[in-house]
Amino acid sequence: MLRPDVDFLNHGSFGATPRCVFAAQQQWIERLEQEPIEFLAPERTLLPKLDEVRELVGTQMNASPRDVVFVRNATDGVNAVVRSLPLRAGDEVLITSHGYNACSNAVRHAAQRAGATVVVADIPFPIRGPDEVTDAIASCITPKTRWMLVDHVTSPTGIVMPVNDIVELAHSRGVRIMIDGAHGPGMLHVDLKRIGADYYTANHHKWWCAPKVSGFLFAREEWQDEILPTVISHGANTEGFGETKFQSHFNWPGTFDPSPLLAIPTAIEFLSGLHSGTIGEGEGMATLMRINHELVVSARRLILDRLGLDEPVPETMLGSLATIPIPQWRDRTSDQMREIGRRLRVEHRFEFPVLQIGNQGCLRIASQAYNSIEQYERLADVLLQIVQ
Ligand SMILES: Cc1ncc(COP(=O)(O)O)c(C=O)c1O
Repeated sequence: MLRPDVDFLNHGSFGATPRCVFAAQQQWIERLEQEPIEFLAPERTLLPKLDEVRELVGTQMNASPRDVVFVRNATDGVNAVVRSLPLRAGDEVLITSHGYNACSNAVRHAAQRAGATVVVADIPFPIRGPDEVTDAIASCITPKTRWMLVDHVTSPTGIVMPVNDIVELAHSRGVRIMIDGAHGPGMLHVDLKRIGADYYTANHHKWWCAPKVSGFLFAREEWQDEILPTVISHGANTEGFGETKFQSHFNWPGTFDPSPLLAIPTAIEFLSGLHSGTIGEGEGMATLMRINHELVVSARRLILDRLGLDEPVPETMLGSLATIPIPQWRDRTSDQMREIGRRLRVEHRFEFPVLQIGNQGCLRIASQAYNSIEQYERLADVLLQIVQ
């Protein structure tokens, strides 16, 4: 549904919804409005419908559906977990310098209320390899570290973090770990059993192209009773809202629109069918993820070559996002960076984030099924023109 007169290279921010997924959502909304009570009341037919989607999400992520609940988005998932943690004064919680601001804020808020300290592991950018991530995190773990939050794919820098190694590291030091996988489903093969994190949250509306707004939160069984949703509702003391306390708390955040969740099967079927007609996280989805990755790698190479730049991140650490520091955008004010972004959007008809990492101006590109290399070729031409 994206307008054709803009080159949209920003799937990473809010995703984009295919027409068939939008149509499926509309159909769910119509059914809801025909029978609001029958459709929406948890004691009628809502819960079986949510459970069906939960089953699919669990299968895609290789997790037991019992360990999966729905949240509005990754910010909601992180908030629920960190604000439920039994932190005490003197504890330390760890985040990284590439973390997503909203989620880092949630961690700071929870820590401050408990008198705990937030330690920020400084991950370099540009970066040479995954060891620089694990080393930076390892050097920040102390006997006081209780919990850490690490992104699966970092928002400002588009780096795929070595989450398996980081989880192993955290657990070897007795630290609980949450992975913010906002970009995970649909960009990467996510295997929650293999990753082994204590908690994982993700968005459906980014790389799975589901309608806005929905996400999931996974928690290992041992922590589930501790976690409260950001909205306390009927499920806290009422039977019939879910099979477990965890499910019961999250199934009903008050009256809500479940249509984005219910359209997820259509989104997964559509994306999986683009390349081989298979359904699920099988061949079709894997092919799409590989093609998106290859496109962003080629696009980044083209821009780097055109501007004569070195690669800031090894290709092996990319998914389908890539951030490129532009040397000519160093030491710019935020007003100057905003003006660059405005010109790219208004005069040159591109949509992608222009951001500052420290004092370095950067741009971030994304590749999804609707993108083509010609769009990045046009971008490379425009960049060459505006930096000269
Ligand atoms: C790593 C990461 N975490 C969390 C979020 C927040 O997503 P949402 O606003 O849907 O909660 C984003 C959004 O881009 C993200 O990149």
